[in-house]
Amino acid sequence: MKFFIDTANLDEIKEANDLGILDGVTTNPSLMAKVGIKGKDAVMNHYKTICEMVDGDISAEVVTTEFKTIIEEGKKLAAIHKNIVVKVPMIPDGVKAIKWFTDNGIRTNCTLIFSAGQAMLAAKAGAAYVSPFIGRIDDSGWDGLELIQQISHIFQVQGFESEILAASIRSSLHIIKCAEAGADVCTCPLESIIGLTKHPLTDIGLAKFVADAKKFA
Ligand code: E4P
Repeated sequence: MKFFIDTANLDEIKEANDLGILDGVTTNPSLMAKVGIKGKDAVMNHYKTICEMVDGDISAEVVTTEFKTIIEEGKKLAAIHKNIVVKVPMIPDGVKAIKWFTDNGIRTNCTLIFSAGQAMLAAKAGAAYVSPFIGRIDDSGWDGLELIQQISHIFQVQGFESEILAASIRSSLHIIKCAEAGADVCTCPLESIIGLTKHPLTDIGLAKFVADAKKFA
């Protein structure tokens, strides 16, 4: 499974990338706003900086919702760097745009997926990634992991080639469960990635090894 980090914060991206396990980055307009990026030029420059930091797929989201403007915006985003994947929302114009981008050699990540039907349509249109938002599904009282299992089963049976990118991750346990459920990628907050390194028995064991090492130092 690939590990992406879900942030526009450059310090967090650096910390995850320095671990040596990072395969890519996802951002969205809310994450860009959170780090104070304002204006078209600043957004484009921020994406460029991320692409120069991480050697992997970098999702850059369109902020328009009509076919023509999605295409115009997506072409500009894709021109920033070869690793840009244009993030397109799951709406009818988005599906149409994903098909256009696919036919024109631009890779896409279909975002805001909350059902298997949406995932199938995005895959059929040729999205490189489909992004089910499992945390938001859990928040609404449904089971996000069930959706990952369902999409994974359908993609295997039907031979869809899009990668399942589990998004809206809320915990380290979510990452493990998504891996079990068949996600190809998890895009995670930094703390959920770092959380995977933690276990109390590791801390206890390490404290003893360090103490014992002093005996023969
Ligand atoms: C996915 O690409 C989105 O950026 C993200 O995972 C949304 O997560 P949230 O529900 O925590 O906002």
